[in-house]
Amino acid sequence: MLVPSKTQFAKDLKDKDSVASTFLIKFSAVAVGKNGKPYMNLVLMDKSGEIEARLWEDVTQHVGQAVRDNFIWVEGRCQSYQGRRQVVINKLQILREDQVEPKQYVSESFLDPEALYAQLLGYVDTMQDPYYKALAESVLKDDADIMDRVKRAPAAKSVHHAYKTGLLEHVVSITGILDGLSKHYGKYLDRDLLFLGGFFHDIGKIWELSYDRVTDYTMEGKLIGHLVMGVELVDRKIRELEAQP
Ligand SMILES: [Fe+2]
Repeated sequence: MLVPSKTQFAKDLKDKDSVASTFLIKFSAVAVGKNGKPYMNLVLMDKSGEIEARLWEDVTQHVGQAVRDNFIWVEGRCQSYQGRRQVVINKLQILREDQVEPKQYVSESFLDPEALYAQLLGYVDTMQDPYYKALAESVLKDDADIMDRVKRAPAAKSVHHAYKTGLLEHVVSITGILDGLSKHYGKYLDRDLLFLGGFFHDIGKIWELSYDRVTDYTMEGKLIGHLVMGVELVDRKIRELEAQP
């Protein structure tokens, strides 16, 4: 199937619109209707937002395939049901990643990750305490895996900065506020220590969440959480620095 490039987006769909577009599946579950027949509840998403959908026919052929993180081609109709928009699907086809442009399906920061990261490193460069600075650099300058994740991670699954690069946007914003606070209160605050708080208070989220496609909590994130994961990281980096000659 030749998949047309995406022009129809979830947030724009209105009652009675006919739908022919690609989406990313955010959620899917099979339920049983009053008539005893299975149907599928879905939440479809793209970078504009999300919309609920129902599949009433041929459900069994799609079970196990129309699942979270898969891209799909959908034909159907948007309708208003109990005041909520819902796409009733007539045709559903699973797509491969190379048939779509993945950027169209995940919302991202309006700000450029590289520029944000340069801003973050700019704050690191102004640190005075050599130990605090070495700790910041060991994470934000010398660890390629962490750097890559910090540029991509959302800050949350929902609520605040819940989009690609949202975490970095949040951390740069917080560090800027801390910079202002340290200027305002001068000698009463330790600017370098405040910065470490800005950099590391949410850093565990790079492992707490998975964000290759649909954002969700990882198993480690559910069991341990970003606060402890952040503490573990700082602890590990301090040990590594101490072990250096
Ligand atoms: Fe935070």
